Amino acid sequence: MTMRLAVNIDHIATLRNARNEGHPDPVEAALLAEKHGAAGIVCHLREDRRHIKDDDLARLREAVTTKLDLEMAMTSEIQKIALALRPDLVTLVPEKREELTTEGGFAIQKHFTRLCEFVKPLRDKEIGVSIFIEPEEESIALAAEAGANIVEFHTGIYSLCTSDAQTAYELERIRNSARIAREMGLSVVAGHGLSVLNIAPFKELRDIEEVSIGHAIIARAVFIGLPAAIQEILDLIRR
Ligand code: PXP
Repeated sequence: MTMRLAVNIDHIATLRNARNEGHPDPVEAALLAEKHGAAGIVCHLREDRRHIKDDDLARLREAVTTKLDLEMAMTSEIQKIALALRPDLVTLVPEKREELTTEGGFAIQKHFTRLCEFVKPLRDKEIGVSIFIEPEEESIALAAEAGANIVEFHTGIYSLCTSDAQTAYELERIRNSARIAREMGLSVVAGHGLSVLNIAPFKELRDIEEVSIGHAIIARAVFIGLPAAIQEILDLIRR
């Protein structure tokens, strides 16, 4: 099974918003990413709309032909938007106003009752539901019980490892968790902090079907262009 790459285009919008004059356009970036091998486009409509705006999301829904993944916090406001817009899937993430980026997996035990109620109307509309969690068995089981069909493992800890021993430990944790998730019938994605510097070992993690990468690709694209930045990752994950 080939590993897919989903490209998060939030930071194209960050750059656009620095001037607010319409460019670079995240939709143009999404189409270019698809043309050069992205199997999906990811964007995060945050409560404070700091990068992607509602209009971007509507245009992305029209334009994206692979798979549109809307990252969102568990709020009624964004749920209403998701139900009307019908992305191919939503990825539920924790969101704090003051954070620079998503800081960790969803606290699934703490929010379990609300989570079950939140997932149902999305699944009823045939929207896929992924939950961004730490790679650990209890969270995986709760995600499955809540009705999610996908789990995305937070790889932030892995991406910050500074020794070979730590890296090997984290990879093993991710590998085992991915196997458990697949045995429970879930699809498995990994993301956060992945880049050309640390993605290579993921090629061997056969239960992970997709990686979701944003910042590193967009940052690299500034120097070598978006198609080349995508190709670098694809070359490293091709099985
Ligand atoms: N997956 C999820 C759920 C995220 O919240 C993020 C950050 O927006 C990413 C993947 C991508 O992380 P990065 O920008 O570090 O590649």
